[in-house]
Amino acid sequence: MRISEEQAVARLIRGEVVAIPTETVYGLAASLSHPLAIEAIFSLKGRPANNPLIVHLASSSELLQYVSKPIQGLQELARQFWPGPLTLVLPVHEHLIPALARAHLPTAAFRVPLHPIAQRILMHTGPLVAPSANRSGCPSSTSAAHVETDFGPRFPVVDGGSCASGVESTILIAHAGRWQVGRLGAIAPESFAPLLGYVPEYSISSDTVSCPGQHYRHYAPRAQLVLGETDKIDHPFVVGFSDRIYKNAKRLFCLGQSDDAAGCLNRLYHTLRLLDDEKIPLAWVDMRLPNTGLFRTLRERLIRAAKD
Ligand code: TXA
Ligand code: MG
Repeated sequence: MRISEEQAVARLIRGEVVAIPTETVYGLAASLSHPLAIEAIFSLKGRPANNPLIVHLASSSELLQYVSKPIQGLQELARQFWPGPLTLVLPVHEHLIPALARAHLPTAAFRVPLHPIAQRILMHTGPLVAPSANRSGCPSSTSAAHVETDFGPRFPVVDGGSCASGVESTILIAHAGRWQVGRLGAIAPESFAPLLGYVPEYSISSDTVSCPGQHYRHYAPRAQLVLGETDKIDHPFVVGFSDRIYKNAKRLFCLGQSDDAAGCLNRLYHTLRLLDDEKIPLAWVDMRLPNTGLFRTLRERLIRAAKD
């Protein structure tokens, strides 16, 4: 059910959950000051309680009150990348963030979204927690129609069109005086080097500096995905690129040009959802991609989407 920004603000202030657009993906939003609404998000999504949520702020000036220690590079990162698709995990004053939202961790994740609708809503509601608006483990939603597919036609959603980046924010975690990538996303790790003086590393093996969400099944359509690195393809359904020829394919589910990682990421979830709309049981995925810049995000999402 499509609702207006004003209706979304009223519902959020009353303690309800609504879906809102952001520049990355649609989010299932609830007010930080309504613990019951936060609890409802976990059950709506089928999300494990030990996977914390991101706190969305209207502006970076709201951040410092929550942060419990001085963090090197924090102001500079916020100045350069906010509003935008960057999430920062920081040590917090625990009494200011409901334990449920941060899964009882001493840290919390924050971001200031760039989407004008999200910004206007946040200005009226104050901080909102918002995980991606999809059932846990499934592809994220990049349109209001995707949200309705997952949560039903009566679920309230503000229609902000297709998301500009179409993939989640990059998460940086402050740890022991350095920043580490907790989740690859819409900003390539290399983009932080001019500001930080190093490329933050991505590792999901360490328990202390990883995002709990990275340990779960993610982004997966019902269709089985077979990842391929060679040009020997004997599957009828292919997820691939417009500038490549797939001789034996009956149907190409096209991500875009193979040199345009951002464009392919933008169509990724839409394409994975299309496989299920068309009831495709199995598709071969063209993984002949570089492992640098935003291609790392694309590769990582496809590898996760293919896991059982
Ligand atoms: O682009 C985005 O970030 C979207 C839009 C709606 O803003 N949101 C989003 O939220 O992707 P979600 O809940 O799908 O993913 C949040 C990720 C999870 O992997 C979670 O484990 C991690 O953030 N996270 C949240 N708080 C954390 C914390 N304190 N420490 C480590 N990771 C944290
Ligand atoms: Mg998610």
